[in-house]
Parts: sequence; C-alpha cells; structure tokens
Amino acid sequence: MQTVRPSRLSFSRGSGQLPYVCGMVENNQALMKRVYFQPGGREITSRDGETVLSAALRQGLVFPHSCRSGNCDTCHARLISGEIAPGATPQVEPDTHTRRPGAILLCQAVPLSDVVIEAHELEAMAGMQVRTLSARVLDLEPLTRNVTALTLGLAKGRGTLEFCAGQYVDLLLWDHRRRSYSIASSPTDPEVIELHVRRIPGGRFSDQELRTLKPRNVLPVMGPLGTFFLRDDPRPTIFVAAGTGLAPVAAMMEDLRKRGTRRQIQLYWGVHSQEDLYRLDQIGIWEQELGLEFAPVLSEPGPGWGGRCGLVHEAVLAEHADLSRMQVYASGYSEMVAAVRASFLRHGLQADALHCESFGHAVD
Ligand SMILES: Cc1cc2nc3c(=O)[nH]c(=O)nc-3n(C[C@H](O)[C@H](O)[C@H](O)COP(=O)(O)OP(=O)(O)OC[C@H]3O[C@@H](n4cnc5c(N)ncnc54)[C@H](O)[C@@H]3O)c2cc1C
Ligand code: FES
Repeated sequence: MQTVRPSRLSFSRGSGQLPYVCGMVENNQALMKRVYFQPGGREITSRDGETVLSAALRQGLVFPHSCRSGNCDTCHARLISGEIAPGATPQVEPDTHTRRPGAILLCQAVPLSDVVIEAHELEAMAGMQVRTLSARVLDLEPLTRNVTALTLGLAKGRGTLEFCAGQYVDLLLWDHRRRSYSIASSPTDPEVIELHVRRIPGGRFSDQELRTLKPRNVLPVMGPLGTFFLRDDPRPTIFVAAGTGLAPVAAMMEDLRKRGTRRQIQLYWGVHSQEDLYRLDQIGIWEQELGLEFAPVLSEPGPGWGGRCGLVHEAVLAEHADLSRMQVYASGYSEMVAAVRASFLRHGLQADALHCESFGHAVD
C-alpha cells in the first residue's frame, strides 16, 4: 500500500468553525489547544504535545481505541478544521469504512491549533477514569511452554482499577516503555488482576523482564484502556481468539458467569498445537454454566488430533458462511484480527457487529 505522509494536516471547512474564538490567554494556557468534537458538541483541552486520544481519556471522554500506537485504525476520525502535527494519518488499508479527506487517527493526532474533529464518543464508557497504580506481583504461573499467567495485586486505598471485562492495562517499564496486556480476570475483583503473557523471543518485557520478576516486585500499571467490551446486543455471539487473545475473552466469560447472563455463544480458539491450549478446566465451566460451544483450532496439529485444523478465522467461515445475523469479538495477534476484518464483512457481518482487540507490538 502506498502511504502519503503530509508534513502537516490542516483543514478549514465552512461548517466546522470553532464555537468561539479565544481571547487573551494566560501564559501557562498558551500551549493548551481547544479540541471541539462534532456531532456531540463536547469540548476538551489538549496539553502541548498531547494526542487528542490521551487528552480525551484524561478528561473522561472515551472514543473507540485499541493499540494507541497507530497500527489498528480503531480510533479513526476526521479533522474538520484546524491543524495537527504530522504522523496522524491512518497507515493501514481502509476496509471497514470509506477513507475520506481529513482522515486522522486520534491516538496520533497532536493539535497544533484549536481544532474541530468529527468523532463519535462511546457514551457507554463515559467518565472512565484512567489511573496509574502501583501493582505488586502476586504470582507467576506457567500456563504453557511460552505463556505465563502474571497475577498482580493493586495497592489498596490508592484508588481502584474500575474496568470493563475485555479492557487492558499498560505495564509501565522502568525505561519509560509501556507494554499492553489484556486483563483476563473478572472486574468484580478489581484489586487482583491476571494477565496472560506470551513470550516473544528477545522481547523487552515478555522475555527479558518477565524472567527476572518475582513475587512482591512492584510494577506500575496504567488503565483501564481500550474499548473491547461486551455490548448489550442480543445477536448470537462468536468469539475468535488467537493464542493469548483468550485473555480478554476469559474476562468476558467470567463476567457473564458472575452476572448470571446467558446468550448464544461460541468460542473459536486458534493455537499452534495441542500443548498450547491452557485453562481447559475453566473453559469446561463456561461450557457447563454458560452453554458455551467451544471449538479449539490447531494450525500445526500433531498425530491423533481429530478436531478442527488450519487458521482460526477460516474455521469460523467454514461453519458460518453467512454472518449477517451474528456479532463477532476478535482478539489476538494483529494478522489474525486483520484477516477477520477483511473476510468477515464479505460474509455479511455488519460493521457495527465486529469488535476487535489487535495485539500489535508497541512503538517505543
Ligand atoms: C491492546 C493490546 C493488548 C495486548 N494484550 C496482550 C495480551 O493479553 N497478551 C500478550 O501476550 N500480548 C498482548 N499484547 C502484546 C504486548 O503488548 C507486547 O507487544 C508483547 O508482549 C511483546 O512485548 P515485548 O516487550 O516482549 O517485545 P518487544 O520488545 O516489543 O518486541 C521484540 C521484538 O519482537 C517483535 N514482536 C513484538 N510483538 C510481536 C508479536 N506479537 N508477534 C511477533 N513479533 C513480535 C517486535 O517487532 C520486536 O522486533 C497486547 C498488545 C496490545 C496493543
Ligand atoms: S490506531 Fe489508534 S488506537 Fe490503534
């Protein structure tokens, strides 16, 4: 795909005038920019160098987002007027919507002037408080040859992490890098969270730092983040998870259990081989208590495997050629999520029925 990176993106349209003009500003406010959202009419300020998404989250406004690294396109929006710094234009092939003039990514857009932006707030998450909390390692449990369950206890009395099942946290590393991990445990016990970390050979956190972590070590976390959460939607639900993409699904299942909610649900879980499957006892409980239909899919099955084989998204399509009446939650490595996006809409899935969490790697 050819990508054109403008040096600056600047728009001014008749319909998009700022609601008022700033008069004299105090020196300490001179670097603040006003960000006005249409059609909701909400207004926030962004600090010098702050992205629109960070500024919005800081002020309790939530727009759809996932990677916060410019990789997944979830936060696409449109600049109506004003000027933003370079690097805010989408870098991925448009597939779920038509790319229009002024297309920007809220997680990359840093206002250089007051701006007007067309973006749709997620009202279901309004007021979400993103906090930085001090966590303590409680346990490290090997789940497979390369996946570890990392259990963290959050300091009591310093604010709790109120999250929706499916959201993620950032681990803040000592060298100012951040790494994102989906919370695999239920939000009903927000003081203890479980993360499933897959080891990436040579990876800064998942290989190097995780090896050295011990119970009682302190690890700052920031969250909750992301807008991957269960919608109140009666359509039959298909979860498609790849590898540790099971983590946010596990949180959702536990949440459904705790709330005693039943829906028609299927889980397709793609891993390489049989030894990569974990927490099968917990999945058995979801089958019994939630009526879940569970379908493991192996891309490299060993001898004796009689179940589904191949790529997980293809296994779904083999059994659901028409997805027009379903809703889909897809989570895991970015290639799988991209394949789901590209193929499921062609099989009739409505754009508003597809929810994704793409585990793209961090841009340091
Ligand atoms: C919203 C979100 C949620 C996430 N949730 C989870 C989760 O629940 N569990 C989980 O295990 N991971 C999850 N990730 C991925 C995670 O944040 C890290 O990117 C991953 O653990 C690698 O970090 P690292 O520091 O070990 O490797 P890095 O130091 O970042 O990378 C080392 C090398 O490996 C490559 N690399 C990084 N990630 C991958 C990858 N996935 N596949 C192939 N090569 C890669 C990099 O290009 C780099 O060359 C999530 C990512 C996002 C954006
Ligand atoms: S591109 Fe902005 S959240 Fe992924």
